[in-house]
Amino acid sequence: CWSVDKIEDNKINYPQLEEAARFLQNNEVVAFPTETVYGLGANAQSDEAVSKIFAAKGRPADNPLIVHISDVNQLRELSTVIPEKSEQLMNAFWPGPLTLIFQKKAGAVSELVTAGLDTIAVRMPDHPVALALISAADLPIAAPSANRSGKPSPTTANHVRTDLDGSIAGIVDGGPTGVGLESTVVDCTGKTPVILRPGGVSKEEIEAVIGKVEIDQALMRLEEKPKSPGMKYKHYAPSAPLFLADGDQKWIQALVNEKRNEGFKVGVLTSTESYPQYDADIVLDCGSRFDLTTVAHNLFHTLRSFDEEQVDIIFSEVFPEEGVGAAIMNRLDKAAGHKWLRQNI
Ligand code: TXA
Ligand code: MG
Repeated sequence: CWSVDKIEDNKINYPQLEEAARFLQNNEVVAFPTETVYGLGANAQSDEAVSKIFAAKGRPADNPLIVHISDVNQLRELSTVIPEKSEQLMNAFWPGPLTLIFQKKAGAVSELVTAGLDTIAVRMPDHPVALALISAADLPIAAPSANRSGKPSPTTANHVRTDLDGSIAGIVDGGPTGVGLESTVVDCTGKTPVILRPGGVSKEEIEAVIGKVEIDQALMRLEEKPKSPGMKYKHYAPSAPLFLADGDQKWIQALVNEKRNEGFKVGVLTSTESYPQYDADIVLDCGSRFDLTTVAHNLFHTLRSFDEEQVDIIFSEVFPEEGVGAAIMNRLDKAAGHKWLRQNI
């Protein structure tokens, strides 16, 4: 597919972005960088454009998309009801890794975007390339993460190419994304605000602005139906089975040894701190326990790297669920298909 040369240090090449914007205006799909992960953008007002997103990703039609805007004034075209708490969150975190759910204004976007719901998810990304592209297209842009459905979200243009080359019109390469995990999805349309998906903005940061919020209880359990339709699917998964190993390094090493003795190629996802102590076929350092933003930044790339190494089984350390750790553990839990091994039970 067509691609924009890598935009170094966010030095934006406007003629190239104009070209990408024209693809969007012509109802083609274009991948672009945001501060969280790469998005697969299309004109949210067009059935034709939006259906190309679902086709390229192999995404189930009942999973709605986030609409991306570059200016708060665009929100008024999408919803006429802005709850006070949503407004406070917008003021605090937009542009940024926060998606808000609003009552949808009838006819504002293609019905395919919202998958039959009467609500709409909206976000303003904090990335100069994303903002410039949306603004040049002068359209609300529907954009899921630019991965094949079920794969880890892409944090580089190469990840996008691996998954979608040949099935999309273009890629705007802005280098690796910063946050590395998707936006937090928050619904303030009811009495108590609810986090539907943990992400780049933590529960603690949100509560500092609007007070008590709930977490959709279905998120960590398989049997309940999550309110955010996308959260029910297996996701983020590398090809090899992944197990979350909740125990000390010695105990995890014993799990590794057992599988290697059985003849398997074994991978371990570790923190920087324990990385040097493991002996396995592939050991990948995902970042520091003392700065979980580094783990968030590296997580999807690390999961994809295990695929390149073609391991048979992966054991992952467990990270504390504070701050962005909640989103890290949500993604790891899903990547593992909820498979946990515990040392102390
Ligand atoms: O960081 C992000 O949010 C990235 C970048 C590209 O912006 N986008 C992203 O989109 O992660 P996607 O499609 O992979 O995830 C969107 C999530 C899904 O879990 C979906 O079910 C949920 O948002 N969602 C969308 N519209 C919704 C709605 N009206 N009500 C509840 N959940 C909704
Ligand atoms: Mg996604």
